[in-house]
Amino acid sequence: MDTASEEYTFTSFSYLPFYTQVNVRLLDLAEVGKQRTIVDLGCGTGGVTKLILERLQSAKDTVIYAVDHSTTALKAAAEEIGERKDLVVNYVHSEAQNLTDAVKDRVDAIVYCNSIHYVPDKAKLVKQIKEKLVTRGIFAFNTSFFEGAHPEDSHEFFRKWMMRSLRILKREHGLSPKKTSKVESRVQLTANQYIDIVEGAGLKILVNDLNRVEVPHEGWHQISGFSDWIEGVMPGVPLDKGRESLQKGLAQIWTEMELKTVPRVWLSVSASKV
Ligand SMILES: C[S@@+](CC[C@H](N)C(=O)[O-])C[C@H]1O[C@@H](n2cnc3c(N)ncnc32)[C@H](O)[C@@H]1O
Repeated sequence: MDTASEEYTFTSFSYLPFYTQVNVRLLDLAEVGKQRTIVDLGCGTGGVTKLILERLQSAKDTVIYAVDHSTTALKAAAEEIGERKDLVVNYVHSEAQNLTDAVKDRVDAIVYCNSIHYVPDKAKLVKQIKEKLVTRGIFAFNTSFFEGAHPEDSHEFFRKWMMRSLRILKREHGLSPKKTSKVESRVQLTANQYIDIVEGAGLKILVNDLNRVEVPHEGWHQISGFSDWIEGVMPGVPLDKGRESLQKGLAQIWTEMELKTVPRVWLSVSASKV
């Protein structure tokens, strides 16, 4: 599946410092560095893949599988990372749900950054993940699309931002979102439901935590240019019109509310194949 053009990828968001920090923490949990064969599931445009590579500098016996269902994202990742002679990066075009076939070997770690929320049948996927791990291998994922990701003190900002952006969309483009069924990333599980899924697959939870992250204006601005985000908050709206309305609405509300940051909570979980 590949709906978005390069113009609407995740690249500019993925290199923001606050976001890098969130993912660096996840790589710590996955013990990347000690673990040498790694799947970067839902790798996107390679932001996390690059962080993995930094920890595996000139390492022998190192293999990375960067898996994504977007050819646009994989192409951007390959360009960003470039040719590496010292280690192997395999770019795998596949649905995460087809992991069993997509990656033939068993690996030491599977990291799944900010992408698990897209998959409808998470239990089935996590069972495949377990089968792909060597004994004592680690699965680590994070997400900020779960029930509890929006702290109480961010609600007013969100409400105002969405209302303003919708008004701009209507006034300037004569458009409104289509009332379709919720996209999968909008159907949100609780942290406990995620834990149940991981344990239900037979993995042992090592770390399960919630981090409040202060997201700057730049974060909300860049995410408004990402196709998945636009399609989530403004379903059926052309990406260019959606981005423009969201970014204009954001700028106005940010100034009016005199904001410096708006918080969001990330769930990070690591688990081992006992
Ligand atoms: C928000 S980006 C995260 C990228 C990267 N992991 C990061 O944290 O910087 C989500 C990525 O997941 C990919 N994705 C979404 N659903 C997927 C699926 N079912 N199978 C494979 N990739 C998927 C999207 O194409 C996108 O590149």
